[in-house]
Amino acid sequence: MITFVNLTNLFVSAGVFGSETNETKSVSVMEGDSVTLHTDFTEIHEDDEIMWSVVAEHTLIAQIHRASGIFSTFDGPDERFRDRLKLDDQTGSLTITDITTKHAGDYKLEIIAAQLSSKTFSVSVYARLPTPNITRDFSQNSSSSSSSSSSSSQQNCSLVCSVVNVGHVTLSWYKGNSLLSSISVSDLSISLSLPLEVEYQDKNTYSCVINNSFTNQTQHLDISKLCQIHSGTSPAISPVISII
Ligand SMILES: *[C@@H]1O[C@H](CO)[C@@H](O)[C@H](O)[C@H]1NC(C)=O
Ligand SMILES: *[C@@H]1O[C@H](CO)[C@@H](O)[C@H](O)[C@H]1NC(C)=O
Ligand SMILES: *[C@@H]1O[C@H](CO)[C@@H](O)[C@H](O)[C@H]1NC(C)=O
Ligand SMILES: *[C@@H]1O[C@H](CO)[C@@H](O)[C@H](O)[C@H]1NC(C)=O
Ligand SMILES: *[C@@H]1O[C@H](CO)[C@@H](O)[C@H](O)[C@H]1NC(C)=O
Ligand SMILES: *[C@@H]1O[C@H](CO)[C@@H](O)[C@H](O)[C@H]1NC(C)=O
Repeated sequence: MITFVNLTNLFVSAGVFGSETNETKSVSVMEGDSVTLHTDFTEIHEDDEIMWSVVAEHTLIAQIHRASGIFSTFDGPDERFRDRLKLDDQTGSLTITDITTKHAGDYKLEIIAAQLSSKTFSVSVYARLPTPNITRDFSQNSSSSSSSSSSSSQQNCSLVCSVVNVGHVTLSWYKGNSLLSSISVSDLSISLSLPLEVEYQDKNTYSCVINNSFTNQTQHLDISKLCQIHSGTSPAISPVISII
């Protein structure tokens, strides 16, 4: 790829005055996973200098220049790259392991070789999503009737699907494959809940799904388990008791 081995200095100068390439690549990665930022080189030459830096902080985090015996990674000012960087000595590609949301952002690759070139990687880190929690919502007053509650409210079970500490997600109820309701948040670290009313004898399949643009998690509703009629709480079943 880099052929002007003996003309390095000449071409570096040429690069400075105009031939700098400027490419941006977006990469998405799940929290806890690894991401490799590829130089797309099969092999780097002795004289080539490779520099990786964090754009926002102008911080050098990895460098290769074999001609001067340099092959290093750095932990960064707040040490957030400590034990997380792997530099490939053949290709110069940089791997960030066990990534967290703190590692999201732009990374710049600069190559000083026959030509000077650079490439920017925009790294998005997605949080792992918790499985939503479906619980009975006893705060709904539909069955704690005052007078003669309607028969339909007696047959309904109020549920709520909830998640805690999420951000940039959508929480939705599905009946089979069709969307019933959903709620979205863009904030970080918020708790979300979404209600659902079903009839006790409903035989449809319901599920509560949390998603971001990258992944999703599903919790299926088990009506027979969650919507048991408690004799103590609902006057609706007193006629059944009176038969005994
Ligand atoms: C080159 O990158 C800079 C920031 O590094 C950006 O402002 C500029 O728009 C880019 N130019 C092109 C042609 O992509
Ligand atoms: C689900 O909710 C129940 C009742 O609030 C709680 O006891 C349980 O710990 C929750 N589970 C999760 C995984 O949040
Ligand atoms: C539940 O309570 C609200 C007010 O708190 C009332 O407007 C509503 O009619 C009640 N619903 C039932 C089914 O009792
Ligand atoms: C009972 O739930 C069904 C949907 O499952 C709904 O259409 C109906 O309005 C509910 N009835 C009451 C009284 O909330
Ligand atoms: C969840 O997925 C839907 C499409 O299935 C999408 O429109 C929505 O933007 C996603 N939510 C987030 C927060 O990315
Ligand atoms: C959840 O993600 C899978 C792929 O990861 C996709 O096939 C499925 O449609 C998604 N489910 C929902 C409800 O968005």
